[in-house]
Amino acid sequence: MNNPILLIMKQHASLEYSQHLSPTLAINESVKRIRDEGRRIFHMGFGEAPFPAPQRMINALQAHADRKSYLPVMGLPELIEAVADHQNQHAGVDTDQYDVVIGPGSKLILFAMQMAIPGDLLLPTPSWVSYRPQADLLQQRVIEVGTILSDEGYKFDGQSLLESIVTSRSQGLNPTKLLVNFPNNPSGLSISNDDLLDVAQICRDNGIVIISDEIYGRLSFDHTYRSLAALYPEGTLVTSGLSKHLSLGGWRLGIGMIPKNKSGLLNRFNHIASELWSSVPAPIQYAAIEAYQGHDDIERFIFDTTDIHATVNQYIAHELRAIGADCAIPQGGFYTWPDFSKLLSKRFGSSEDLSFHLLNEHGVATLPGSAFGEPASTLRLRLSGCDYDGGQALQQWETHKGQGSVSDMVNQIAPNVVGALNEFRKLTESING
Ligand SMILES: Cc1ncc(COP(=O)(O)O)c(C=O)c1O
Repeated sequence: MNNPILLIMKQHASLEYSQHLSPTLAINESVKRIRDEGRRIFHMGFGEAPFPAPQRMINALQAHADRKSYLPVMGLPELIEAVADHQNQHAGVDTDQYDVVIGPGSKLILFAMQMAIPGDLLLPTPSWVSYRPQADLLQQRVIEVGTILSDEGYKFDGQSLLESIVTSRSQGLNPTKLLVNFPNNPSGLSISNDDLLDVAQICRDNGIVIISDEIYGRLSFDHTYRSLAALYPEGTLVTSGLSKHLSLGGWRLGIGMIPKNKSGLLNRFNHIASELWSSVPAPIQYAAIEAYQGHDDIERFIFDTTDIHATVNQYIAHELRAIGADCAIPQGGFYTWPDFSKLLSKRFGSSEDLSFHLLNEHGVATLPGSAFGEPASTLRLRLSGCDYDGGQALQQWETHKGQGSVSDMVNQIAPNVVGALNEFRKLTESING
């Protein structure tokens, strides 16, 4: 057993329990437990946006606490309308071509979409930890697709995507869908419009449906939400929700968009939804309407918190580069994806060893790249830059933004992030002198 998350959980909880958790949730629960024991941990393992719930949303939730009846399986009609307007306004999607559905978090919507589209999954590497396990649960086969990551962004090699489709078909597999996620977890990178158009064209030509996970769409550091639904509306399903740009992961509200022309797909989706979750809690759906109506305070919250994510996570990337790691500068979300192979391969054989050492010897929680499909021998880590008090950060940002250096700002708002970077520095100096 060489998996750091399992080893940590062995020390801190029931191994039996942890073995069955998704890696991100497992590391988060174990870090909480270690902190409860009084040990200091710099937490870069879990991607949870740290900002307080926007006051308007809290008020709306309170005002609707007495809504106790089941709502329609697809979702509350007023919320569906608000979501459609939002996607039209922010991402230029022709929402007349779409049905909007509401679910308990986009994770479950992604699962239901995968289930509703029979056939095998084209899955870019690296990619978020839950896509493959979901395909495994559904007994759908996974066909990996290579990607190219750089400061320019996250690119598909069109040729290799095409080859994956053609070769897998010639081997008897049945690729029917491609999962695309941008801005991307784990890399923090996005896909340019030109590259999105290329991917859409290849999928269109080859009868592949795209499931576009746009949960970080409103957290693009250039404040532009690009959606594949605007480019390939007849063949793209979209997922998003409240978890990331509104810091409301625990409210468990996700949205989905299903092309109207895919006959039968909405019925299959609703069949699954009605057998699995019936409907999302009514008070949450009423409150969520506020998130999609374009209120100034909500839009300001999204704008400012996106800028804070940009400041902290781009700082992390620059600092890691300064100590010699390979790390693209992120373009959205709250992750970096550094590779320490050049620096640390004489000491560590796998990203899991490195992650385990960082936790035990340096008190820094990370996730190994292998959890995202990266070869274990590459010393990649997925770092989440969220370990700070979001309420204080937002206040300081509003009063001090634009003043002083980025490093002063990050020191003030995110001392744990700076503490973690110091540990990375110590580790690389101890190995390379
Ligand atoms: C890429 C990606 N997709 C989907 C999700 C699921 O989000 P939720 O179920 O909270 O909507 C996450 C959460 O970590 C994520 O990082």
